[in-house]
Amino acid sequence: MESIEGVEMAKVIVSNINMAFEGMENETIMQILYRNGIEIDSACGGHGQCTSCRVIILFGSENLYPPEFEEKDTLEENGMNPEEERLSCQAKLNGKGDVVIYLP
Ligand code: FES
Repeated sequence: MESIEGVEMAKVIVSNINMAFEGMENETIMQILYRNGIEIDSACGGHGQCTSCRVIILFGSENLYPPEFEEKDTLEENGMNPEEERLSCQAKLNGKGDVVIYLP
């Protein structure tokens, strides 16, 4: 992966609009999309407590950091598998590779 001044870069590829956006390690999918003019619903204000910002992970779930407490809880409560779906306000790039998503 590309590195700019020690910060790992990777891409979030949005399959259903056929676009790819560069992001930095530790950036959330939502931050990357917002920066590129793509707004996602965020009923809880990006606190990992709703599922309105969910995205489908088609490839590269291993290139996201595992869910932390808040997201893990919400995913479990809603029967969502973190290999397949993530909360875009919480899911952060780990900088090791690209992630391909689908916006529901
Ligand atoms: S905006 Fe509510 S979980 Fe992401």
